[in-house]
Amino acid sequence: MEKEKIFMKDWLCVARVEEIEKPGDYMTFRIAGEPLIVVRNRAGELKALANVCAHRGVEVASGQGNVMRFSCPYHGWQYDLDGKLTGAAFMAESEVFQRDCSLPQVKLGVWAGWIFVNFDPAAEPLQDFISEVDREFGFVRQEDCRLAAKFDYELDCNWKLLVENFLDIYHVKVLHSKTFGKHARRAEDYPFNIQRRGGFSAFHASAPMNPDGRTLFRKRDILAEQPDDFAASCHLAPNFSMFVRSDNVFHLTTWPIAPNRSRFIAYFLFPKEFADDPQYAAKVQVYADFFKKSLLEDQDMVRSLQGAMGSRNFRPGPFSKLESAVYNSISHYLERMF
Ligand code: FES
Ligand SMILES: [Fe+2]
Repeated sequence: MEKEKIFMKDWLCVARVEEIEKPGDYMTFRIAGEPLIVVRNRAGELKALANVCAHRGVEVASGQGNVMRFSCPYHGWQYDLDGKLTGAAFMAESEVFQRDCSLPQVKLGVWAGWIFVNFDPAAEPLQDFISEVDREFGFVRQEDCRLAAKFDYELDCNWKLLVENFLDIYHVKVLHSKTFGKHARRAEDYPFNIQRRGGFSAFHASAPMNPDGRTLFRKRDILAEQPDDFAASCHLAPNFSMFVRSDNVFHLTTWPIAPNRSRFIAYFLFPKEFADDPQYAAKVQVYADFFKKSLLEDQDMVRSLQGAMGSRNFRPGPFSKLESAVYNSISHYLERMF
């Protein structure tokens, strides 16, 4: 049901444009089990193609890389970077074979340097889907940033427990008291702007994401008027969370693999010009390590939440006001599903 009602309907953020930069660059995904390729064609345009061979359905590409064409590993049918079939050996004798066929196209859009895909041919344009977020966060100019680090984890829990965890402010000053929680504003001052479709945004205060809470670079020019602990957060249903600090932006996307197994991907963006810093890689590593440490704290909690789902003694308790965004997200989910 989630696949049909959510993941095959919504715009989903799958990558940064700089991850698929040159003609022939491609990445593959399985989105709720649906195999997908995102590729940059010869003309430099991004395309999303179903990764299912028109012969018998094998995935024609795997992993990521750079290719001249896709060649199905099973019987060798060939496709160009637009997904058009260009070769199929020994098929001329077939009376029903159609040379004029392609890998099905999936909708693709770009917002602020992020690549979104949508499996629903009737979906609203990405610009409409993202308009609320764009209005509030367009000024962050993520198109002027570059991916500096990325991690990819799998966890034994339902994907929604991770999404809820990233929306949950109640735990920040408790669970994360030794990491970023110590740099956050008093939790009771946290402003929630509840948004349509289960989303939320907040403009709050939290220091740069490293152990000292002091930037290792500098405040971004676009935030010159803002305090050093400027922070903003946002969630775009179903699975995209964004956290802005005065010197960088980080993102999380969460993906179902099975009812009790999920994948999440963390992205770290820094303004392009910070890459001129001779210590760039080492400094980025400090942020990345700090963030990883915070994520590990969350990881044990969501595993334990998943365990509680199977406990005969667990009765769900009430939410606090600091879980408003979790409540909003679950309400929206229930409305869509049932
Ligand atoms: S399944 Fe791809 S060539 Fe046969
Ligand atoms: Fe957390």
